[in-house]
Amino acid sequence: MKAVLCKAFGPAETLVLEEVPSPEAKKNEIVMDVHAAGVNFPDTLIIEGKYQFKPPFPFSPGGESAGVISAVGEKVSHLKIGDRIMALTGWGSFAEHVAVPAYNVLPMPETMDFTTAAAFSMTYGTSMHALKQRANLQPGETLLVLGASGGVGLAAVEIGKAMGARVIAAASSADKLAVAKAAGADELINYSETNLKDEIKRLTNGLGADVIYDPVGGDLFDQAIRAIAWNGRLLVVGFASGRIPELPVNLALLKGASVVGVFWGSFAQRQPQDNAANFQQLFSWYAEGKLKPLVSQVYPLEKAADAINALGQRKAVGKVVVRVR
Ligand SMILES: NC(=O)c1ccc[n+]([C@@H]2O[C@H](COP(=O)([O-])OP(=O)(O)OC[C@H]3O[C@@H](n4cnc5c(N)ncnc54)[C@H](OP(=O)(O)O)[C@@H]3O)[C@@H](O)[C@H]2O)c1
Repeated sequence: MKAVLCKAFGPAETLVLEEVPSPEAKKNEIVMDVHAAGVNFPDTLIIEGKYQFKPPFPFSPGGESAGVISAVGEKVSHLKIGDRIMALTGWGSFAEHVAVPAYNVLPMPETMDFTTAAAFSMTYGTSMHALKQRANLQPGETLLVLGASGGVGLAAVEIGKAMGARVIAAASSADKLAVAKAAGADELINYSETNLKDEIKRLTNGLGADVIYDPVGGDLFDQAIRAIAWNGRLLVVGFASGRIPELPVNLALLKGASVVGVFWGSFAQRQPQDNAANFQQLFSWYAEGKLKPLVSQVYPLEKAADAINALGQRKAVGKVVVRVR
């Protein structure tokens, strides 16, 4: 099969497309013919050796994908050859076939196409877990989303609206904010042009945001935590800015606020039934038209490096997908 390979840590330009043997299904795995693979920020990190997982070389990046099952391990009884599925692979999806533990596989909703399915699990799964289990977001609360046009950010805007929150979307340009507005955001903050803390206060009558969804970290965290509401929850989702911020804990004390970690992959493994219930809700909202996943760019497998760079260079909106077949 053809696979995009990382043979040593480095920038996306060092990835190569090669012929390698196809994987076989171990007893608890399935093998999938990959149709499309979603690109996520961790793909930019894993090839540079900056992610929490460091697979042995050579490996293919690509943490999620959608396709058709072509082989089933002897202990897998709930899936069969020919099933249309979406899968969390961690890495390995930028290839024509990938082997996945059966518990990391979900049947695709019938009305969903492969490109959308490949772009769905990671972002919507993360943002649903963050807003439901970690923030306990309530109807009528104010939700501030940083990096609101990015993968997890845009999903948070849509889910926040579906949960009945007032959503303030914050991003670095007017074009990115237009994308968040189209996804349902009520208010917009351009943090390249205005002071984030002052704008949050202005839009909340000085009260601050009840829930802050932060996949960016760095300076934006420093400003946002100073505009959190009484009893507020700040969700630590990621550090796309490259800097892990530090918190003077008196700020949490003064607002009775919580800083709450979000690690969706671990949640999905430790609480599979809660994760499955989250996806049932997400698929219902999708069927009702409340979620409209935005795939803004689709690249062929041989251009996977360009797809990864779109995220690494802060040029992506919504999701970027690598189309494999
Ligand atoms: N905790 C979890 O379970 C979990 C799960 C999935 C992803 N994540 C994390 O969430 C973060 C976002 O992932 P994603 O896949 O949504 O990425 P993405 O689509 O690239 O979005 C990231 C956003 O961050 C903002 N940003 C600010 N500084 C940036 C920089 N220097 N480089 C790139 N983007 C920058 C960008 O918006 P502006 O230009 O508008 O600022 C961009 O839209 C990552 O840190 C990822 O590791 C965490």
